[in-house]
Amino acid sequence: MSENIESVLNETRLFEPAEDFVARARIKAVDLEALHRKAESDYEGFWGDLAREEIDWHKPFTKTLDDSRAPHFGWFTDGLLNISWNCLDRHLAQRGDQAAIIFEGEPGDTRRISYRELHAEVCRFANGLKAQGVQKGDRVVIYMPMIPEAVVAMQACARIGAIHSVVFGGFSAEALRDRVNDAGAKMIVTSDGGHRGGKVVELKQAVDKAIDHGCPSIEKVVVFKRCGNDVVMRKEDVWWHDVIAGQADQCDPEWVDAEHPLFLLYTSGSTGKPKGIQHATGGYLLNAIVTNKWVFDMHDGDVFWCTADVGWITGHSYVAYGPLAIGGTEVIYEGTPTVPDAGRFWKVCQDHGVTIFYTAPTAIRALMKLGETWPEKYDLSKLRLLGTVGEPINPEAWMWYHTVIGKERCPIVDTWWQTETGAHMIAPVPGAMPTKPGSCTRPLPGIIADVVNEEGHPVGANQGGLLVIKKPWPSMLRTIWGDDDRFRKTYWGQFGGKYYLAGDSARRDEDGYFWIMGRIDDVLNVSGHRLGTMEVESALVAHPRVAEAAVVGRPHDVKGEAIVAFVICKGERPTGATAEAMLKELREWVSQEIGPIAKPDDIRFADNLPKTRSGKIMRRLLRSIARGEEITQDTSTLENEQVVLQLQGKA
Ligand code: WT7
Repeated sequence: MSENIESVLNETRLFEPAEDFVARARIKAVDLEALHRKAESDYEGFWGDLAREEIDWHKPFTKTLDDSRAPHFGWFTDGLLNISWNCLDRHLAQRGDQAAIIFEGEPGDTRRISYRELHAEVCRFANGLKAQGVQKGDRVVIYMPMIPEAVVAMQACARIGAIHSVVFGGFSAEALRDRVNDAGAKMIVTSDGGHRGGKVVELKQAVDKAIDHGCPSIEKVVVFKRCGNDVVMRKEDVWWHDVIAGQADQCDPEWVDAEHPLFLLYTSGSTGKPKGIQHATGGYLLNAIVTNKWVFDMHDGDVFWCTADVGWITGHSYVAYGPLAIGGTEVIYEGTPTVPDAGRFWKVCQDHGVTIFYTAPTAIRALMKLGETWPEKYDLSKLRLLGTVGEPINPEAWMWYHTVIGKERCPIVDTWWQTETGAHMIAPVPGAMPTKPGSCTRPLPGIIADVVNEEGHPVGANQGGLLVIKKPWPSMLRTIWGDDDRFRKTYWGQFGGKYYLAGDSARRDEDGYFWIMGRIDDVLNVSGHRLGTMEVESALVAHPRVAEAAVVGRPHDVKGEAIVAFVICKGERPTGATAEAMLKELREWVSQEIGPIAKPDDIRFADNLPKTRSGKIMRRLLRSIARGEEITQDTSTLENEQVVLQLQGKA
């Protein structure tokens, strides 16, 4: 058996950025090379200089990198700062009246919030938090819809040195309770409800249930009135408007040292109990700033829209902090892409003049499935840059994004990173290099990534292997809250603490471009060939009738593993004889596209794939289905539980 992961995808298209894009780009090819050279020749100097240029320090740091306690690295350790000051106060003189946030609720209500107004709201709420007994270092869980107050609550915590832990508003009461208890949070900030999918999501009710099931550390629950749905105010509850009533619109920031924990964010990973990823203040802020400049090329006048919820890391780095830290203007939209119809995202882009749009491949594929007539109804001419994150984007979806949304004008930045990395790691710098559909391109300056085999030796061009980061970087996670052992084992265990193990498989092509092949745990082992799931899925989706596909392995006597594909077709779900014919055709198709070895043994058709709330395919569930096992996983968070029956062939 070969130890390497084989790569079978062969994508050769190359897209150069348009001349006018390059002309005004912050970073051009020569600048990018200079940044890389500096990072290579003087790693600490590179990050130290950036930290001095990009961050306003209350007390400057003297030490850039402390590696004396590896794998616990410290950055800018003796510097003092406040991230909320860096996001708000420092812009007031020049940008007080500029829109910081343009908000659109799902029902269509809009608000424009200037930097001055946002600063005042954050200060009032920060003062209110203090009055409610929240102190530096206390944990505050934020369980909110996607409304400006979610950002206000995060910024207010940061302003007073409290540690926030945002829990996605789509999570159940049980998931909320587990995270509250793991963090030992003192307070929950929530709202009566939020508008999603044309309905009111009853957030306060879920909080009540979580508390009834035991959240002993919670002292107060702050409730923002968003929807006006009925809520029962109980002894620990206080209205947001009462918390801020009479509070001053100025609040001196708490100067914290750079390593002070800024937030915890729980990520489930593929197995086990959720991990509370802990980020520090200074290093996190630095990478959030530079990536907004380098990758999103944000300029004055841009309107940036990242569709991610604040419940995910993307909503932290590219909604709550990064765009504000550089004085940008951003859109926040509360709801789903298909309310009242499938044109909503494009209408929001048109109505608010969005110039930079950042979303997930799962959303792109879903919108692609709904057809081109929706984006064609709206004026998307202001768009100049498009981005994706969350999973590998298959070349088919990339091309659709490029032609139908970007009208072949807008570079696409495919950004590889993780909750743990805090900010983009491998991503295009769009004015400085060509892109390739499906590749996240090259590591950013100062990010030393590589693809290695099980022994830690670099593999050759186009050979699959393990993605590692070989040097610490400022926005790296600091630990797993309450479980430092797991932190050491998960990320630093494999190569004797030398490299950070990302948990993804990848290959690097002859131009040094990275291609993510999927999670290591998902690698298929067919007749001694190790294949990434991504490549087989890409081949399936390249078929004109296929909208989405997921493949998993099932034990096989001879081959080791057989490939089972779950396929969503454009238009109607094939059944009976049509399904039989389609199955044959797709097996043949994959065989043609990547070779007989990758031919799925079994294909199941359904209307949807089971996904986590962040849009990742639930492969563990699919593996159980493929093996005909009983489903023991929690499927209550699925949007459509019926799909499980379909995938099992029972409906
Ligand atoms: C995992 C991290 C980073 C914010 C959203 C997800 C996958 C992420 C890409 C990409 C291929 C990607 C990886 C990674 N992933 N971005 N551009 N291309 N794969 O954060 O939930 O921490 O997930 O998402 O597998 O390890 P997360």
